[in-house]
Amino acid sequence: MTPLIAPSLLSANFADLQSEIAMINRSEADWLHLDIMDGVFVPNISFGFPVIKSLAPLCTKPMDAHLMVCRPEKFIDRLQALGIYMMNVHYEACPHLHRTLAQIKEAGMKAGITLNPHTPVSLLEDVVNDADMVLIMSVNPGFGGQKFIPHSLEKVARLKELILKKNSHALIEIDGGINEETGKAAIEAGADILVVGHSVFTSPNPEETLSRLKQL
Ligand code: DX5
Ligand code: ZN
Repeated sequence: MTPLIAPSLLSANFADLQSEIAMINRSEADWLHLDIMDGVFVPNISFGFPVIKSLAPLCTKPMDAHLMVCRPEKFIDRLQALGIYMMNVHYEACPHLHRTLAQIKEAGMKAGITLNPHTPVSLLEDVVNDADMVLIMSVNPGFGGQKFIPHSLEKVARLKELILKKNSHALIEIDGGINEETGKAAIEAGADILVVGHSVFTSPNPEETLSRLKQL
């Protein structure tokens, strides 16, 4: 299967988001990845609802929201109203994850579970069938441009095994430090979707880089 590519807006030029969205629309990217941070769950603050509200009408690709916030269930209705396609919540931020996933789906969005680098895949044993996607963090969340954690590949492979064993339909997304080299390794390990920030937006021709990633 060709990978789906989800450029992360976090590494884009925030002074010219309109042009960055236009580039993503023109490109072979499949989704737009939106990193929402609260400065509590992660040690950084990115952007929130007013910014997404301005961008949503410009973006022609499905929006993949990655909630790096405590108690993300508080924001289900607002994200649904903004037209979010996939809502990813962190396993570590949801005391009632099963209920939260159900609420996301009831709101008409796809539901994703995100795992921090230290959170074992085995914890998903009893919830993987309730998720449309599992996002493996291959860096500690909070910042773009960090170095890929190689152990994440083992987690992707173990997750793939669990998904097959449980007959789950969940897709596997990987996020953090992805470039052509780590992206290829992640696909070989079983990843379906690559989130790419730094390596796309710092490249001389982001559109071409997205196209190369799509060929991996
Ligand atoms: C990190 C974010 C990522 C980040 C990826 O907290 O979840 O989506 O933007 O950026 P790169 O590809 O630069 O690691
Ligand atoms: Zn992300």
